[in-house]
Amino acid sequence: MSKRTTGYESQWNETYGLDKDPVRKYLIYPLIDDQSGELSDKRILDAGSGNGNLLSYLASRSYKSAIGIDKSPEFINSARTNVPDERAQFVEADLLQKLPFEDASFDVVYSIFVLNELPEIRLHIQEMSRVLHSGGHLLIVATHPLFAMYYHLYERFTGKQNDKLIGIKGYFDREPVQYIFTLAKSSARFFQHTFEEFLNPLFESGMEPLKLLELRTDDINFQSIPSYWDTRDVPKYLFLKAQKR
Ligand SMILES: C[S@@+](CC[C@H](N)C(=O)[O-])C[C@H]1O[C@@H](n2cnc3c(N)ncnc32)[C@H](O)[C@@H]1O
Repeated sequence: MSKRTTGYESQWNETYGLDKDPVRKYLIYPLIDDQSGELSDKRILDAGSGNGNLLSYLASRSYKSAIGIDKSPEFINSARTNVPDERAQFVEADLLQKLPFEDASFDVVYSIFVLNELPEIRLHIQEMSRVLHSGGHLLIVATHPLFAMYYHLYERFTGKQNDKLIGIKGYFDREPVQYIFTLAKSSARFFQHTFEEFLNPLFESGMEPLKLLELRTDDINFQSIPSYWDTRDVPKYLFLKAQKR
């Protein structure tokens, strides 16, 4: 299976470009705002920064410096255009490798909708912990582990194929499946991750979990988007906040 459909980055930019994605706008960024706390004098890492969406959002806030890393040169270029902020820089890096930073280089690390694009997250979560300064915060947003179960059980009980996670075989599925973006005409390779996979690397790497939230699209802002509204009772996104000891 090819890793992406053609034009993933440009279709992503068109549909989920800055301030266009209702999930980020109404659900994720208000939560990030609330949970980030005071950012003045903080050194930020956005691991898997895509088109710079998060750092563009944070640009109005006071912070010391920010680095966005991504493996896609096209996304790195669009992020540089989208975030013309001298405090921020964008660098190509592979999250499956050791991160190109010294220990304790950052005060806040964000991982927003990235972990389900990685086949293996243990080392990466340990790396995000390594580069955090003691007392620093890791904020993760990922697809809720039970989201896959909804589509798996839909197929099992209706005998029909679902139109969101193509090929999903259940909670413990280790194979990549195709994630169809709701608003963009594109898809990405998606790896299901269980609670064990999200939480154990935190426990093992000196991180103290501070908060776990299970987010859904039951807000009035999602009423006009049928697939979000129809699945408003399904746990969709997992928010994890942990502190480096
Ligand atoms: C769904 S996008 C989310 C981007 C951004 N965090 C956001 O919320 O808009 C996932 C991002 O992870 C990046 N990515 C996937 N696998 C990666 C890897 N092995 N190393 C670095 N970046 C990766 C992709 O290029 C993409 O930009």
